[in-house]
Amino acid sequence: MKFKKNILCIGAGYVGGPTMAVIAAKCPQYKVTVVDINEKRIREWESENLPIYEPGLDDIVKMARGRNLFFSKEIEKGINEADIIFVSVNTPTKTFGQGAGRAADLQYWERTARQILANSDSGKIIVEKSTLPVRTAEAMEKILNLNQEKIGFEVVSNPEFLSEGTAVKDLEKPDRVLIGSRETEAGIKARKEIVEVYANWVPRERIIESNVWSAELSKLTANAFLAQRISSINSISALCEKTEADIDEVAYAVGTDSRIGNKFLKASVGFGGSCFKKDILNLVYICQNYGLYEVADYWESVVKINEWQEGRFVRNMLAGMFNTVAGKKITVFGFAFKANTGDIRESPAIYVTRGLLEERAMVVISDPKALENAKKDLEDVKEGVSFEKDPYRAAEGSHAIAILTEWDIYRDLDYERILQSMATPAFIFDGRNILDHKKLFKIGFNVFAIGKSPLKHF
Ligand code: NAD
Ligand code: UGA
Repeated sequence: MKFKKNILCIGAGYVGGPTMAVIAAKCPQYKVTVVDINEKRIREWESENLPIYEPGLDDIVKMARGRNLFFSKEIEKGINEADIIFVSVNTPTKTFGQGAGRAADLQYWERTARQILANSDSGKIIVEKSTLPVRTAEAMEKILNLNQEKIGFEVVSNPEFLSEGTAVKDLEKPDRVLIGSRETEAGIKARKEIVEVYANWVPRERIIESNVWSAELSKLTANAFLAQRISSINSISALCEKTEADIDEVAYAVGTDSRIGNKFLKASVGFGGSCFKKDILNLVYICQNYGLYEVADYWESVVKINEWQEGRFVRNMLAGMFNTVAGKKITVFGFAFKANTGDIRESPAIYVTRGLLEERAMVVISDPKALENAKKDLEDVKEGVSFEKDPYRAAEGSHAIAILTEWDIYRDLDYERILQSMATPAFIFDGRNILDHKKLFKIGFNVFAIGKSPLKHF
């Protein structure tokens, strides 16, 4: 079959894989190839066991794979044949040198730009899919335009707003798709080509066009705003615990104001995920670089409150359990950073587990999808930690349960059965406020939730 255009995606991760699967499924006229330096990942994308878990993803991949969706290790060939290249490589926080701990590490990004340059015989549209510091397109253009043959490259910013656990739904029905470019004739032509791809399934009014810098900065800003709402409600949760106000009631009352809205107001043990912290710290670094120290401090406080909230959760567990957890068995329900994903990057469960281990507790970790990742993350821990998928078995003989991920299965467990198998007094620390606390108290648990007065039998 002759395809209208060849699309290549460099980076077969959480973003590259699902995004390209949806583009391929919705646009049979484009040939979509996804490449990665990680050959194992590519083999997994080609197999029955995809490298990431996302509801609905298996079906979409199966439908398009081999038709117009291909996974490949041949990066150079892919670059050469492509008309449009989405770059979706990772952009982690820099761990060394200037900006360590805050700036984005752009080494993977720059390597990709050079690789594109080295393997292109014809002009291409390069789409920034990764989340990048504002003005990265400028650096990319400078590298790409080093070519002697004067091949024309246009850099377009098309940040991704999907959330893990709902990636397929978010991609199929996005709130908006944002596409930014240079406002030159060539820039606008390139932008329109990307608009044309999305217009196959996204209503035109949901496709926002802007200049390239606005698109880059909007992505960092959106993540900062989302995280800020969580830190805002979490900061108030601490005040609720001191004043007998109830955080869920406060969030409901505040969120019904249509100007505020009710989403992202669920108090929790803290936000996790690979991006919120990294993107805010990147924003902080950029502001500092421009001398905007007050702006930097403002956004940095969002991350600080989150770290404080995670620490507070461990301190509350300790205080609730008579100031010692040494030798006590504590069961962690949920290790993923949120429900419906196996991803544990920056999960609050990591922080809480390590905090409990420092206090010499014996921690049993249970999770329906993230146990393998949890094991890898805790590989360095010599003793005190074990893993058990079955929540009933995991809770046997334990002094306390800590709910750290809002998986539905934890709502529906038989807690009377669990209580009977536990040591007494038995505690539940609900870090996600998903359980019926009054009911649990009635059957005999001591219940500590976020932003609520504890329910204790002593
Ligand atoms: P990821 O680590 O899951 O995937 C990145 C992939 O890029 C890896 O498989 C890696 O091997 C590959 N890679 C790195 N350098 C390469 C190179 N030179 N050539 C070929 N492949 C290379 O990361 P991710 O979660 O998909 O995130 C990618 C970007 O998208 C980041 O900038 C992130 O901030 C952004 N983002 C992520 C999410 C999310 O939910 N995870 C959502 C929106 C935006
Ligand atoms: C987030 C954004 O929601 C996406 O729009 C963005 O594309 C993505 O980051 C990214 O750039 O990587 P994600 O991290 O997958 O998506 O998940 P979220 O649903 O945003 O949850 C992040 C964390 O906040 C989770 O730990 C979640 O449990 C927590 N959270 C979320 C709360 O504690 N309370 C809430 O009300 C909402």
